Amino acid sequence: MTNKGTKLEFRELNKKFGEVTALTDINLTVEPGEILGVIGYSGAGKSTLIRMINGLEKPTSGQVLLDGTDIAGMSERQLRGLRRHIGMIFQHFNLFNSRNAIRNVEYPLELAGVPKAKRRARAQELLEFVGLGDKAESYPEQLSGGQKQRVGIARALATEPTLLLADEATSALDPETTAGVLDLLRRINREMGVTIVLITHDMSVVRGIADRMAIMELGSIVETGSVHEVFANPATEVGRRFATTALRDVPIGRERESVQRAGGRLITITVNDGVDIAALSQAAAAHGTTAIIAHGAVSNVQSKSYGRLTLRLSPLEGQENTADIDAAVAAISELTQVEELES
Ligand SMILES: Nc1ncnc2c1ncn2[C@@H]1O[C@H](COP(=O)(O)OP(=O)(O)OP(=O)(O)O)[C@@H](O)[C@H]1O
Ligand SMILES: [Mg+2]
Repeated sequence: MTNKGTKLEFRELNKKFGEVTALTDINLTVEPGEILGVIGYSGAGKSTLIRMINGLEKPTSGQVLLDGTDIAGMSERQLRGLRRHIGMIFQHFNLFNSRNAIRNVEYPLELAGVPKAKRRARAQELLEFVGLGDKAESYPEQLSGGQKQRVGIARALATEPTLLLADEATSALDPETTAGVLDLLRRINREMGVTIVLITHDMSVVRGIADRMAIMELGSIVETGSVHEVFANPATEVGRRFATTALRDVPIGRERESVQRAGGRLITITVNDGVDIAALSQAAAAHGTTAIIAHGAVSNVQSKSYGRLTLRLSPLEGQENTADIDAAVAAISELTQVEELES
């Protein structure tokens, strides 16, 4: 199974619903075979953006180009042909409860007029590909959420799409199941070269799968970049908030209370590639101070480390009178970004 990915471009795209502005001046290119994660809070315009791609919504102005062709000018008949090359998966799976798994996967092939024996064989092959070869006869109510989404994915792949659109496809699943579905989407991307646009409000989904990401706010794209760029150096307040939620880098609630109870001066530092934890510790020691990690984690995003650590600074043993913690904080600030933990 090898397809080639669609190239997708939005140019000066605007969308209004009557008085409501849903999208403003969207300019974005998704390269063939790329996985783009689009993230934003509720009402940001994510679903509207994805619905523009398969022509379910028409632009108020601007263009949506698929492999260079503007879909705005297409007739309903042309759009139906186009949608055959676009797979779509949904938050609530949208399976037919009256059809078993294999007949759900066959559905788009029925619409395309593929003869019965051929579509059966293809659907079985797809169910095997998504790891459900033995569930062909099961009805949706007999399947778990993760299994239902795999059936949804098999169905989306039936017509050999070159573009796959996912709107909150893992939002109804627990983290383990989400990880399995994301692995499957990555495999589809690698093995078939399908371009994927994935919409979510969950930064860990973007982190787990996307090559590039776009952040939406109030109908605009406010930030784009590689996932690592945006994580390590968010340019906007909303970007910073998403980066923070993904890593749970600053202790919150009960965690914060217990970190604070143990005393010392608490600072949160950013760890990027090039930040040497041993050097930070030496800088603190030069001012009679120990720096120990009280909270946090460093992850590897796109082969680069990124994380934030909360450090507890206190006098080195025997240097209680001479330790200069302010000077230690200043020395660490020379090496990386530092924030004091508010109480
Ligand atoms: N058919 C419509 N008619 C009128 N307004 C609409 C329509 N569809 C969307 N909107 C408006 O456009 C804006 C963007 O909605 P959209 O559904 O794209 O947001 P979203 O980012 O997908 O949010 P969520 O995370 O809640 O799914 C909202 O203000 C919404 O009310
Ligand atoms: Mg939505």
